[in-house]
Amino acid sequence: MDFLEIEGGKKLKGAVQISGAKNAALPLLTCTLLSKTPVHIGNVPNVADVKTLLQLLENLGAKQNFDNNQALVDTSGVNSTCANYDIVRKMRASILTLGPLLTRFGHCEVSLPGGCAIGQRPIDLHLKALEMMGADIDIRQGYVIASAPKGLKGANIVFDKITVTGSENIIMAAALAHGTTTISNAAKEPEVVQLCEALNKSGVEIKGIGSAEIEIQGSGGKLLDIADFSVIPDRIEAGTYLCAGAITNSEITVTNVIPEHLKALISKLISMGFEVLKTENSITIKPSSKILPADIETLEYPGFPTDMQAQFMALCTQADGTSLIDERLFENRFMHVSELLRMGANIKLTSHTATIYAPTKLTGADVMATDLRASSALVLAALAAEGTTRIHRIYHLDRGYENLEGKLSNLGAKIKRLSE
Ligand code: UD1
Repeated sequence: MDFLEIEGGKKLKGAVQISGAKNAALPLLTCTLLSKTPVHIGNVPNVADVKTLLQLLENLGAKQNFDNNQALVDTSGVNSTCANYDIVRKMRASILTLGPLLTRFGHCEVSLPGGCAIGQRPIDLHLKALEMMGADIDIRQGYVIASAPKGLKGANIVFDKITVTGSENIIMAAALAHGTTTISNAAKEPEVVQLCEALNKSGVEIKGIGSAEIEIQGSGGKLLDIADFSVIPDRIEAGTYLCAGAITNSEITVTNVIPEHLKALISKLISMGFEVLKTENSITIKPSSKILPADIETLEYPGFPTDMQAQFMALCTQADGTSLIDERLFENRFMHVSELLRMGANIKLTSHTATIYAPTKLTGADVMATDLRASSALVLAALAAEGTTRIHRIYHLDRGYENLEGKLSNLGAKIKRLSE
């Protein structure tokens, strides 16, 4: 198994190009199931989750080619509707095949994803919405068995909670349904917006894109001719590198980004005393003479993203004063805390809030990655720590960060990938 060895305490410098967004690429790849023609997607990040999803599509009978960040997917030969446990357990986002498979074939069997390190993560809202669209849903032997032999029909869906993949599943299901579907309380994340735009460009009439009220006109079962498109930049990867600049108090620039997508993050960095400069497609962070503590509450977009909570917690360990982080989305998303404590942080947890007493001197240690974003928090802490940190189980990082060690090395970090 690979691990990362990081020698901390080095300043970073330079620019880093941000890859395509994993969380946008995944629904875009599953939406190829709605297309009668091969779909070409550019700027696809070369990360483990993308490869897992391509493998799942291949298992269903699709043809795919993924090279140099370009994916070509042809789902015309799909002859299975079963997303099996072996793949779904590797990646929860496999649930994104549920809506497209059901709406195209009238039935499917998708393994229930189960819990994960950051909490229970149910899919009840996806299922309830599909039932409202006429699906019969049964849970048997760990699988969602869904059927709608005459196709799904438009419905008025009101999500009790904002759900990103839930909104995406229903948008894709609605694209081939009979009649009009409305979704209230839809997720507004840029990744959801890109899915809507891709479908819209391919002839699906969608109103309210980017708002909480979306209306989708279904094609009545007719497959689409999905146009080529390019995945939007990864706002979480960009935010992670900005935090790398912040925690080492260095000047770095992230390029190929959409600064608008990082508004909540940028405003938090500014409130912590950093100067942040933006161009149309880049963001530069400059050192701060004094890192100020922060109060952070994770929220749905455009609020502060839960996917950046762990990285900001690492940064808060270097602030001059006590910070408070309130995790509102996932009940158990504090797995990184015990590892940060091993590096010298002083953090107290009560229910869904973390109090970070700072500044603390971090020192290198052997630490364990527990989930994707928790792992990147450990990388950040290691960059600021005195001495050498070894981060084990980095397959979590490989799920969502393309060439992390290469990009950080180019910025001047001392980082090596080694095998146990
Ligand atoms: C997506 C992102 C993930 C991010 C999360 C929140 C992808 C592939 N993953 O995950 O990186 O951290 O959004 O921004 O895009 N919920 C229910 N019932 C449901 C669905 C969700 O109770 O049926 C709850 C969840 O437990 C959670 C909240 O709703 O508390 C939001 O979850 P959701 O937006 O669905 O997260 P994901 O789509 O799984």
